Amino acid sequence: MSETVKLTIGEKTYELPVIEGSENEKAIDITKLRAESGYITIDTGFKNTGSTKSAVTFLDGEKGILRYRGYPIEQLAEKAEFLEVSYLLIYGHLPTKTEYQEFKENITTHTLVHEDMRMFFEAYPAKAHPMGIMAASLCTLSTFYPESLDPNRSDEAVDLTIHRLLAKIPTLAAWSYKNAMRHPVIYPKNHFDYCENFLHMMFAMPTCEYSPDPIITNALNKLLILHADHEQNCSASTVRVVGSSQANLYASISAGVSALWGPLHGGANQAVIEMLETIINDGGDLEKWINKAKDKEDSFRLMGFGHRVYKNFDPRAKIIKKAADDVLGKLGVVDPVLDIAKKLEEVALNDEYFQSRGLYPNVDFYSGIIYRALGIPTEMFTVMFALGRLPGWIAQWKEMMHDKQPISRPRQIYTGETERDFVDIDKR
Ligand code: ACO
Repeated sequence: MSETVKLTIGEKTYELPVIEGSENEKAIDITKLRAESGYITIDTGFKNTGSTKSAVTFLDGEKGILRYRGYPIEQLAEKAEFLEVSYLLIYGHLPTKTEYQEFKENITTHTLVHEDMRMFFEAYPAKAHPMGIMAASLCTLSTFYPESLDPNRSDEAVDLTIHRLLAKIPTLAAWSYKNAMRHPVIYPKNHFDYCENFLHMMFAMPTCEYSPDPIITNALNKLLILHADHEQNCSASTVRVVGSSQANLYASISAGVSALWGPLHGGANQAVIEMLETIINDGGDLEKWINKAKDKEDSFRLMGFGHRVYKNFDPRAKIIKKAADDVLGKLGVVDPVLDIAKKLEEVALNDEYFQSRGLYPNVDFYSGIIYRALGIPTEMFTVMFALGRLPGWIAQWKEMMHDKQPISRPRQIYTGETERDFVDIDKR
């Protein structure tokens, strides 16, 4: 007989089924609890709540394990191409040569965005944050493809939307940067691969070509892979919640971008660099800033430290730290921000406050340092994260649709006023 858990409320005992995952992680299934007992559970921030079963990504925060569809992140970051990993996440298996060729061709065919859409970029203020442009323009894509408004079309139609999203996001990202620079946009060139094409649209000018540097394209490829999925995080959950209302895929992904923007999630990569620069400009007194982070009266937190699920180490941070050393070494970049980051990490890791709370550098602590070395401006860092995370969001959305998950609609415990009569305005 399968395992159950007994819950006693007053005189009555309820037997709740236990669900076990393929890595032996366990959950108590409470789907019938309210109907049978009248009780709900409460778990602010969903710290103990599984929102779904999923076969996309496995992570073990205690052991520092991360696998996409069973493949360890270390192997994928070392050996795979970002589009190969995208295919793996979205379709569940590594592509054969023929499948991969076809997938790449499909994506290459859709890199242009509609000329009318280019006009929108001219209207954004130069100071517009590129994440605002990214969220808006991904949702705007739906207006150019009205047939995509129904997310339940044929597999071919859904695939077309997926190809369009993957193909156009680098174009939209690079154009948001060109907008900030008040430079003319650069059109994609389809003989470049995915990473090269993005860098070309970022750094070429009408007056000069971009020649891809393998050190830079390889580093970008690795960073995108490391960010490609992270199971039910804030933005992936947002994509699933929005998608569960049967909103179209463009709108669901755009909502994921907005969720990613916050400094407690993907926005941390920008916040880390800004924090490190502030520390340097303030004289570099690390103890002062560590004490600020520990002070509960002070709102300052050590950005790039801590994670909801990793309480030992973040395996992506390990890979990124090594990549940062490699890239900066190969490019001959000397960055005082890298030096202060390393010192800060050392001080924090030896501090009881951080040790006892399991606060370690996360994926975003070092990623910004590599992006800086690649010439990508700080405000674009979270956009880079979105580029990497897109296949993960798509995979999570696809699985949610396939599993026909019901609309996400949590309950609450009401703590407001009980019923009272309306009072006319002159009597208040
Ligand atoms: N600096 C100082 N103290 C911290 C930090 C930090 N970066 N992170 C957590 N803490 C402390 C909290 O104050 C709390 O202390 P307490 O137990 O004395 O009250 C304890 O550690 C637990 O923290 P919570 O906020 O409860 O942990 P939660 O899981 O809710 O938050 C989060 C995780 C949001 C990532 C948090 O660690 C944080 O704010 N980190 C900085 C922002 C950041 O780097 N975000 C990127 C995350 S990775 C990603 O999304 C890609």
